[in-house]
Amino acid sequence: MTQHLGRARTATSTAGPGPQQDRTGWWRNAVIYQVYPRSFADGNGDGMGDLAGVRSRLPHLAGLGVDAVWLSPFYASPQADGGYDVTDYRAVDGRFGDLSDAAALIEDAHGLGLRVIVDIVPNHSSDQHEWFQRALAEGPGTPARERYHFRPGKGEHGELPPNDWESVFGGPAWTRTKNPDGTPGEWYLHLFAPEQPDFDWQHPAVHDEFRTVLRFWLDMGVDGFRVDVAHGLIKAPGLPDTGSSGQLRLLGNQELPFFDQDGVHAVYRDWRRVFEEYPGERIGVAEAWAPNSQRTALYVREDELHQAFNFHYLQTGWDADALRAVVTESLDAMRPAAAPATWVLSNHDVVRHRTRLGGGLPRARAAALLMLALPGSAYLYQGEELGLPEVTDLPDEARQDPSFFRETGQDGLRDGCRVPLPWTSGGSSYGFGEGGSWLPQPEGWGELSVSAQTGDPDSTLELYRRALRLRRENDDLGAGESVEWLPAPDGVLAFRRGGFVCTVNTGDEPVELPARPGQLLLASGTFDDGSLLLPPDTTVWWTTGPAA
Ligand code: GLC
Repeated sequence: MTQHLGRARTATSTAGPGPQQDRTGWWRNAVIYQVYPRSFADGNGDGMGDLAGVRSRLPHLAGLGVDAVWLSPFYASPQADGGYDVTDYRAVDGRFGDLSDAAALIEDAHGLGLRVIVDIVPNHSSDQHEWFQRALAEGPGTPARERYHFRPGKGEHGELPPNDWESVFGGPAWTRTKNPDGTPGEWYLHLFAPEQPDFDWQHPAVHDEFRTVLRFWLDMGVDGFRVDVAHGLIKAPGLPDTGSSGQLRLLGNQELPFFDQDGVHAVYRDWRRVFEEYPGERIGVAEAWAPNSQRTALYVREDELHQAFNFHYLQTGWDADALRAVVTESLDAMRPAAAPATWVLSNHDVVRHRTRLGGGLPRARAAALLMLALPGSAYLYQGEELGLPEVTDLPDEARQDPSFFRETGQDGLRDGCRVPLPWTSGGSSYGFGEGGSWLPQPEGWGELSVSAQTGDPDSTLELYRRALRLRRENDDLGAGESVEWLPAPDGVLAFRRGGFVCTVNTGDEPVELPARPGQLLLASGTFDDGSLLLPPDTTVWWTTGPAA
């Protein structure tokens, strides 16, 4: 059993990791590591990752020093959208294993002091879900259709979609059905792929079903849920037109009739009551795209979910002023809700930050140390601890992201951050598994592997390990809800948190710090401790001794 260094954990319940390691508010400053099961580790050699693979690699996560693992969906699914198209929310897809693998994974994780968060996908099911298949078979006007959004089309023969909503993956958000007798029928709503029909959350059966699903996984011992498309469940009454095209560019910055409607909050108040039926602190994390931080904060009010992803932070470029503004705004927005801010640089939907921030590995490392110094909870995406870049040259025939196949959808390029991880310098798929890899790994991938980086003090992996250990040992990192900005030259961010100071040079030139902030704790790149010259794309952590 791995001993976590630093902060003592006091027993509060029987849920989650062993009682010795439990502590109140564990999630408030937790570092949570996202596993995309298809691409993490392949236990059965079929080229696709699975739960046995994840289980075998849990010691890597415990040794890295994270608090929890979030698993992207592994439920029964035709995989039209990497598992975000679920046919059975209580079953493990055969590609990933079975329920006993899930139980063993949860048990092993807890034994290693890691909590487990699973994804839940309440906005839509798979089109192969029994409810949707029944809705198609039973036809217009039947109760089976009421659990989804079926509508007659517009136009003389119903040949036009019922409104102007666009799918996040491109094209109209509506697909026309065929009636059981083969004639053209009603349309159904899908904010994502046509294989992902949206549930109608006005229907009580949908509420009942998801309460049952939550309890199913809570009974299995999970410590929380990452709520997929948490902002999408409720649509504006009457499904009004948006009146504009190119709605994708409005996501996350403007009000839309299908996202961030006030009605969604009643769902999370209900779910919070379900979480509280269980011992320990079982949490909900919203994937909520809202127009601003204030709207995002509504999802984490005291009686709703516990955290919401900070996509405004993820979308901020490598610029000191912009970063200072988004950090301040995020902390200010969360304070009234008494919820922790969260920070994230990469996930399975965006270009990896080593590539996205435009400054290669030095900038990625500097960004990571900045994020890990902020108060609140940080989300890591598998492989960022290895400094993996986005794979930008995948051949078209290898791609699986549904938005790649629908013109104008998202960026259509989400496969490049989903390439299976390298665990060893050589061997079949660099230790991912014995049977190749569902997406081709680029040349040189093995040099970035866990085994190649382990023990190399200059490696990104060892940087993350040291950073996470320091974060555990030092309560001024992570805990709390504010930062004290220090005067700093242009392009430099400097802040204090108790006896800790973080300095970041986002510029292209070295910058002389006005004074030595304290004793050097950790630097993201080469830094001459004898000088005050902060190199470009470098973050340095300092300790000033016990807080005043
Ligand atoms: C979320 C997921 C994304 C998925 C979409 C539809 O945004 O993160 O991967 O495609 O929901 O479920």
